[in-house]
This record gives sequence, structure tokens and C-alpha cells, in this order.
Amino acid sequence: MVASVALLAACGAKGNKTGYEYAPQMYHSVPYEGLTQITDEDEGQLISNREDGKGEFYNSNPNNPHKMNMRQPPANTVSRNAAGILPTQIHKDSFALAARVLISPLGDDDALVADGKLLYGRFCEHCHGDTGQGDGLVGEVYLGVPPYNSAAIKEQPEGHLYHVITHGKGRMLSHASQLNPMERWKIVRYVQTLQKQ
Ligand code: HEC
Repeated sequence: MVASVALLAACGAKGNKTGYEYAPQMYHSVPYEGLTQITDEDEGQLISNREDGKGEFYNSNPNNPHKMNMRQPPANTVSRNAAGILPTQIHKDSFALAARVLISPLGDDDALVADGKLLYGRFCEHCHGDTGQGDGLVGEVYLGVPPYNSAAIKEQPEGHLYHVITHGKGRMLSHASQLNPMERWKIVRYVQTLQKQ
């Protein structure tokens, strides 16, 4: 009895460890997966029954630069718009336009800031940090997250912030699939308080 309890406890997931899984090949993709890149060939070796002898979680393409699974599609394989950009990219001129024309439909009150703070904690804080200094836990490894009160950002108007959340900018990706427009505007109100800090 004691032994079986100890055995079961050892299967548990914790931190970065997924724990042991029953029938792992049902969960881990054998084909290259665009959004995973595990380069350690022994990762998941203990539970692996892959035919190539590598660990269950190994998923990298050795033929690509940096063993990446995902690559920028070559020219003429994905339709681009008249300006030559991919549907997922946005023209850099749109930032100046957004800053001028996008205005929050939600107005300005304290309840919005409180809602925005909650959403910020879920969607932004891990990179941008609780006071917007770019020092969140992910920001510490995903370097180059700028402070909101830096010279380049502290004067940016609400339309710019909304546009960045919606479409991303540079190394930051779009959050449009995770946040509806009202939620984005609430976050904008909270980020504005951090710009002033
Ligand atoms: C995965 C990390 C990550 C997450 C999550 C993230 N950001 Fe960013 N953010 C960045 C990085 C990196 C940059 C710098 C982008 C660049 O210039 O290349 C940035 C830049 C910005 C900027 C400045 C853009 C400018 O004017 O140059 C704003 C504003 C911003 N993020 C807001 C947000 C908000 C609001 C959220 C949550 C909805 C968020 N970010 C979530 C990483 C992140």
C-alpha cells in the first residue's frame, strides 16, 4: 500500500515537468510541430517507444537553421497583399494612423482601470512586469521588453497601445485572439497608469 502510494505520487506533474503519461504518443505529435521545438534528443526518453530511438518529446527539424520547426514561408508560396506583407504582418505606417484615430469607446473611470489591471496580470505581466518595467518572469529571459515609462513609449496615446495589443509590434505578437476589443481597451487604461510611473 505504502509503496503504491509512493509510486503514484512519483507520477505527478510539477513545475516544468509534465509527469508520466499513459500512452504518451496520443498526446505528443510525431510530425514536426510548428509551435514546439525541443532539441534535446533524450527529453522524455524514459517513456519513449519511438522507432528512431529518440526521447518521446524530441521535436526539432535538423534541416532547418537552429533546428527550428517553423520557418518563414518562401516568397510566392503564401499570398501577400499589395504592399508585399503577409496577412499576419501589419504595415509599419499603421501605427501612426492608429495613434491618431483610435479612441476608446469605454470612457475613463476607475472601474476600467481595475478591470484592466486584472487582465494585464493574466496577459501581459509575465513579460512586462507588475509595474511595466519589462521585468516579468518571462521578460527576464525573453529580453528586450521595454519599460512603459521609457521615453519612446510614455507619451504614446491610447490608440497606439490598442494597436500594439491587437496586432503586436516587432517581437511582441498579436493578442487579438485572446482578448476581445473591450478587454483590450480596459488593459490600455491600466497601461496608461504605468506609463506615468
Ligand atoms: C511574450 C512577451 C510579451 C507579452 C505577453 C506581451 N508583450 Fe508587449 N512587448 C513585448 C516585447 C518583446 C516588446 C518590444 C517589441 C519590439 O519593439 O520589438 C513589447 C512591446 C510592447 C509595447 C511598446 C510598443 C512600442 O510602442 O514600441 C506595448 C505598449 C506593449 N508591449 C503592451 C503589451 C500589453 C498591453 C500586453 C498584454 C496584452 C503585452 N504587451 C504582452 C513582449 C510581450
